[in-house]
Amino acid sequence: MSNIRLGVNIDHVATVRNARGENYPSPLQAAIIAEKSGAHSVTIHLREDRRHIRDEDLKLIKSKIKIPLNLEIAATKEMLNIALKNKPKFVCIVPEKRKEITTEGGLNLNYRINFLKEVIQKLKKNGSRVSLFIEPNLKDVLLSKKLGVHCVEFHTGKICNLINKKKTYKSEYDRIQAAAKLASTQGIEVHAGHGLTYQSAKIIKKIKFIEEFNIGHFLVGESIFYGLKNVIKKFKRIIK
Ligand code: PXP
Repeated sequence: MSNIRLGVNIDHVATVRNARGENYPSPLQAAIIAEKSGAHSVTIHLREDRRHIRDEDLKLIKSKIKIPLNLEIAATKEMLNIALKNKPKFVCIVPEKRKEITTEGGLNLNYRINFLKEVIQKLKKNGSRVSLFIEPNLKDVLLSKKLGVHCVEFHTGKICNLINKKKTYKSEYDRIQAAAKLASTQGIEVHAGHGLTYQSAKIIKKIKFIEEFNIGHFLVGESIFYGLKNVIKKFKRIIK
């Protein structure tokens, strides 16, 4: 049996909440259910534009769950200060462009590398496990080693897309496998995430050295179908 840990990303519970400006569905409730259901960590991405998770969500979730909170942030002064103040167990540094629909690729590690180094050092000193969300390539693994992070998370968007479209994914699979092997020999823990579905998770879990998956969009979407029947039945009972 594979013992890959599951980090549950609940950003899109907040997306649904924010779409109507109500206070439900509650990301806190989702985090508590994730914990009770055996998730190893809860992931939230505090974006610069606060399009889903908000500062209050971070504080509340951090104070109520016992499993590690994995806070995804861009490498900015504002986000660094928030992470230093809230001390999440895990921090994953991700690229962020305001106009993108989602995180469309791994970090450009050469962009403001000295600042990135400073961010990593401060977070580590503050007691957080620090991860970098990168493309699965050897160059970025070696740079991550130089930057001194505990973990890398490989962006799996490309392979997941190929799998979804029933295209051949072997060369991307091999690229991830080679990068994972190198990271592991460098003493860096390997994670994977973005776009994972039942089908792609089944394939990617076979890649050696991956220790953690972070899954959000598909998981939240799929939860609708697991819950829809019960909610309709409950409403029918209520209005009878
Ligand atoms: N890992 C990281 C670093 C992310 O930024 C995201 C969201 O883009 C995910 C995992 C989860 O991706 P998804 O919502 O597609 O499952």
